[in-house]
Amino acid sequence: MIPCQRQKFSIPEDVAYFNTAYMSPLMHSVVAAMDRGARMKSTPWTLTIADFYDSVDRARSLFAGLMQVDAAGIAVIPSASYGIETAARNLRVGVGRKVVTLENQFPSHVYPWRRLVRQGGGEVIQVAQANHATLTDAVLAAIDERCAVAALPNVLWTNGAVLDLVAIRLRCDQVGAALVLDLTQSAGAMVTDFSVIKPDFAAVAGYKWMMSPYATGFLYAAPSRRDGEPLEEGWITRKGSRDFSGLVNYTDQFEPGAIRYDMGERANFALMPGVVAALEQLTEWGVARIEATLADRNRALSKRLIGLGLTPTPDDRRGPHFLGAELPKGTPGNLLQQLAAKGVYLSERGGSLRITPHLWNNDSDCDRLVESLGAIL
Ligand SMILES: Cc1ncc(COP(=O)(O)O)c(C=O)c1O
Repeated sequence: MIPCQRQKFSIPEDVAYFNTAYMSPLMHSVVAAMDRGARMKSTPWTLTIADFYDSVDRARSLFAGLMQVDAAGIAVIPSASYGIETAARNLRVGVGRKVVTLENQFPSHVYPWRRLVRQGGGEVIQVAQANHATLTDAVLAAIDERCAVAALPNVLWTNGAVLDLVAIRLRCDQVGAALVLDLTQSAGAMVTDFSVIKPDFAAVAGYKWMMSPYATGFLYAAPSRRDGEPLEEGWITRKGSRDFSGLVNYTDQFEPGAIRYDMGERANFALMPGVVAALEQLTEWGVARIEATLADRNRALSKRLIGLGLTPTPDDRRGPHFLGAELPKGTPGNLLQQLAAKGVYLSERGGSLRITPHLWNNDSDCDRLVESLGAIL
């Protein structure tokens, strides 16, 4: 277990923040790195060509290390929607075929698929658990020969319901479907074995469980997907771009790997050093230890919520780091405002209370949450 790390953040004692799924706070080390980075632009004469490459490459390889994949498969992107759009741009559905998504899936992982089928035929279906034993069973039943793409998360962003991506990958292989993942709500806090799951593409927005600045993220592309079409015809992603004076010697060749999918101006001096600082800290803690620590915290909280009349997603049906709970009938409509007035911050999505603690939380935060809920419900 990792001991409480609150000292690394600027969180007042009377704030109980349980909203990583919305936005994690930045660590002092991340703010300091971003401050140094922003100041680089105030003295552009001190910038070197290496400043356009080094922190980007460092971030790429730190992310790859966290996900235990090769850094060559990682592109630097500004948002999950950018990464998913990149995937959609490089896949086909077609008349009579379908994209399998979840009911209530995050919109960044729905709209690109809707456009794709609007333009090229096919349909997007939304899977609900309905009368299946688990959400995974419902998804497996939907992945048949008509399925061109399974476009899924690891955990559902509303209530933390988890999918068995290993079983889903196997099923995709049987029917020849591509697997495109949005791991925004799990990467950094839940071990995900890419060597088995082998996603075709996996996008992650960095500002939640990656503890990174807003407008940063990563896209993983499988080896067979690294020759696709990027969203932008960038210059820095081309072979030999380090030679700034030779950039008008145009080339259609990209640097190897997934670099072709990098966003323009990826070397954002104010943001990228912050990403590096955040990922260095996550690497030091280790994703498996983060997961185990949050799992322990959530199991204990879940039991206390049941005592208050809430219905948490069962421990074995949710991401270990992510606690969702249905509210009892008669819950006041302004519950979140009442909780905020007591210094407790969390969110509600699709009728579920979302409780997503992290290493800054301590035991008194949990007491404050449970006591505040008890007083309101
Ligand atoms: C599952 C999921 N994906 C993606 C995002 C963010 O998407 P984007 O980076 O496109 O703004 C969120 C934000 O809540 C999310 O919950």
